[in-house]
Amino acid sequence: MKTDVLDMLRAASPEWVSGEVLREPTGVSRAAISKQIKRWVALGYEIESSPRKGYRLKSEPDSLEAEFMKSRLEGTRFAKGEYVYTQVTGSTNDDVRELARRGAPEGSLVVAEVQERGRGRHGRAWFNRAGDSLLVSLLLRPPLTPRQGTLIPLLAAAGIYSALESLGVEGCGIKWPNDVLVDGRKVCGVLCEMSVDMDGIEFALLGIGMNVNTPGGAFPGELQGKACSLASATGRRWSRSEVMEAVLREIDRLAIPTWSGEMGPVMEVWRRGAVTPGKRVHVTRGDGKVFDGVAEDVNEDGALRVRDAEGTAHVLHSGEVTLSADGL
Ligand code: BTN
Repeated sequence: MKTDVLDMLRAASPEWVSGEVLREPTGVSRAAISKQIKRWVALGYEIESSPRKGYRLKSEPDSLEAEFMKSRLEGTRFAKGEYVYTQVTGSTNDDVRELARRGAPEGSLVVAEVQERGRGRHGRAWFNRAGDSLLVSLLLRPPLTPRQGTLIPLLAAAGIYSALESLGVEGCGIKWPNDVLVDGRKVCGVLCEMSVDMDGIEFALLGIGMNVNTPGGAFPGELQGKACSLASATGRRWSRSEVMEAVLREIDRLAIPTWSGEMGPVMEVWRRGAVTPGKRVHVTRGDGKVFDGVAEDVNEDGALRVRDAEGTAHVLHSGEVTLSADGL
């Protein structure tokens, strides 16, 4: 279904848009506009009409299905790729990998209501609650070297952080490499997987899991005090479609300079949100070795520098960092 009329109503919302203004750029008749509006209303859009004032969009359905989300993502790479919506799946990262292997374009994505085998970093399971979480995996084809690709997890975190800020969420932060926190508790995690060949990065998969409307008491015991949802942190429910649009728009925006080899914009946002530098941390390195130290900065590859008690600097490209003060 064409979305020009809807886009104009959305841009003006909550103000009225007259029938003439709607007809002008689209060049369609009064009857055709009224027919389109009826179709959107049947899909759950609340659109008020007045013979004198025209139309105004009062609310949109909070659905993550393609017919609703594609128009919201207009102008980004995510409007151009394949869009797979599924009620229940194993892991959206596994599904998007299949798309990638079949040659789907950059911007393709898989979104699910529930995952039965959702995966977190370091082989952990990812908790989700039907209808409350945002579970989406993105397919990117960055024209970068594998070395530059180490910044992609940071790009994801920077995009999510910046989207939450733009939605007015206070107290957001980023824990290296790509956990997004609100008031020190994890609200969103990203599982970044990459396929690399001789020519560079074949594809990167960004699996985003955000707790949107999960009630605080619904998290399992081991996550209590460590995890939160947007709703539990801010005291109100959030529209998942609005949050998803904001996140994908920011990731799209930051990917543009990054794909041209300009890493500054991602690093600037990431550093603005970073809670790790200057903190005492407990480190589990990729090879399993553990030590305590103080986190310093990230370098241009996105690696974290941690100085141990003897004053030796360790540069971490992978691994797990726990903030000593709050056990996160
Ligand atoms: C983490 O451990 O912080 C990363 C969690 C990533 C979870 C998301 S949910 C959507 C996508 N599909 C998965 O199986 N995992 C990621």
